Amino acid sequence: MQLTGRVVLVFGAGSSGPGWGNGKAAAVLYARAGATVVAADRVLAAAAETASIITGEGGQALALAADVTSAASVDAVVAAVLAQFGRIDVLHNNVGITDMGDLSEITDERWARVMDINLAGAMRACRAVLPIMQAQGKGAIINISSLAGGVINTYPYFSYNASKAALNHFTRALAIQYGKQGIRSNAIMPGLMATPMVQAQIAGQYADVDAMQRARDAASPTGKQGDAWDIARAALFLASDDAGYINGVCLPVDGGLHCLAG
Ligand SMILES: NC(=O)c1ccc[n+]([C@@H]2O[C@H](COP(=O)([O-])OP(=O)(O)OC[C@H]3O[C@@H](n4cnc5c(N)ncnc54)[C@H](O)[C@@H]3O)[C@@H](O)[C@H]2O)c1
Repeated sequence: MQLTGRVVLVFGAGSSGPGWGNGKAAAVLYARAGATVVAADRVLAAAAETASIITGEGGQALALAADVTSAASVDAVVAAVLAQFGRIDVLHNNVGITDMGDLSEITDERWARVMDINLAGAMRACRAVLPIMQAQGKGAIINISSLAGGVINTYPYFSYNASKAALNHFTRALAIQYGKQGIRSNAIMPGLMATPMVQAQIAGQYADVDAMQRARDAASPTGKQGDAWDIARAALFLASDDAGYINGVCLPVDGGLHCLAG
């Protein structure tokens, strides 16, 4: 699973808290496999932290500010990567948020915000990068979805469920439309992962963070939640030539939870 000489662009390469988020771990693992990694994030300091971990390990990285809700911002980042490195081999769309609430509380604005970030954000990145991959005759797109895009759990996040289901189907459509041009598109559906994002966005559903971790461990078929490195390793495989005939897959990385829930 080597990426020597490849250029990888990760949107959402920072972490929403201390420790390892899915995007941050994936960015670091791509670099460990030999790729030059562009870490893009709405929070430049978060992208810079990821990039500095990579360069501190002797890898190649560049941090850029990017907001996936803005086509101009996404286009500018893609243009900057092309100008500096001349190619983009892997596009990794990690950005995603949850929004909890009874449907009666969900305003049109709240619904649209989740769709804009989780679904249209990935579309904007793909729209900007695909012409580059088409010109190369090769590329790999990895969209970070969620098991919630395939099966329903008990969290009250309607827009999240809907946006991730749409992201899965968008990924399949990309796979079919661009497969003959050498571009593979796949999604990863993380299950119950112990990451900073969960502490920030899910813990409110439980008495406290410890109660959340116990409940999520107990709900996993392995007895333990996964972590960001589980997602990163799956992403590295899908990005590599070892996954050369894998296209249009929405891969659960969930310790088997989909077997119970599906
Ligand atoms: N942790 C889990 O249990 C779990 C489960 C299923 C799916 N996921 C998915 O994993 C992804 C997030 O994983 P993570 O651990 O890296 O989360 P994270 O929140 O730690 O990192 C996401 C990064 O995206 C950035 N970001 C937010 N909005 C942005 C925007 N508009 N433009 C650019 N950057 C933006 C944040 O600043 C942050 O650095 C999401 O797509 C999420 O749905 C996570």
